Amino acid sequence: MLKGLLFDLDGVLTNSAKFHLTAWNNLAKELGITLNDAQLDSLRGISRMDSLELILKYGGQEDKYTEAEKEKFAAEKNSKFVEQVETMTPKDILPGIPELLADAKKQNLKMVIASASKNAPKILTRLGIMDEFDGIVDPATLHHGKPDPEIYEKAQEIAGLKADEVISFEDAKAGVESIKAAGQFAVGIGDKELLKEADYIVPTTADLKLSEIEKVFNEK
Ligand code: BG6
Ligand code: MG
Repeated sequence: MLKGLLFDLDGVLTNSAKFHLTAWNNLAKELGITLNDAQLDSLRGISRMDSLELILKYGGQEDKYTEAEKEKFAAEKNSKFVEQVETMTPKDILPGIPELLADAKKQNLKMVIASASKNAPKILTRLGIMDEFDGIVDPATLHHGKPDPEIYEKAQEIAGLKADEVISFEDAKAGVESIKAAGQFAVGIGDKELLKEADYIVPTTADLKLSEIEKVFNEK
């Protein structure tokens, strides 16, 4: 029986994913690295330092910088990202999400955030939906990033539920892989081909309807 929903944040509840990708793309350019669309998309869901390492690898620069230099690059990217976050308001909640959260509340479902972002509390506060959630996984406590199952296992533990009692929402390929590795039901939001491991896929958040998703969940 469905008892909880676990949510990624960037690209699911709000479109902050685009701020991350723009900030990374700009940093890559400054480092003389051109990222193609697939490389840029592969950064979705990936932690800050892992994203930087991936960009340096794509540019063949994995051994070029010291740890201190890498920390500086990541901090620069983060301050650009945070500048964008500071402009966010409740209007930036993606279409369909308010209805989904309201439907979940009506059913008394537990709701937990499973985001790799250290900025998640700040973003949720800007959106005015911090209090809607029963908990947030602290990414600083994780040993492995997505696609490892750890973050979704932790979110499930915070909710106090079993894997077959939750539905988890993601826009990232690495995120869907993390959910499936945790043995949970995955809803993918975005490209059908890219997110094909998900149990239920919609092109945008506006297409999310809890009763429809639940039907498929109950058949599994
Ligand atoms: C994820 C984003 O939610 O958080 C990634 O999809 C981002 O793009 C990651 O790199 C880490 O975010 P932050 O805010 O801690 O740098
Ligand atoms: Mg995401």
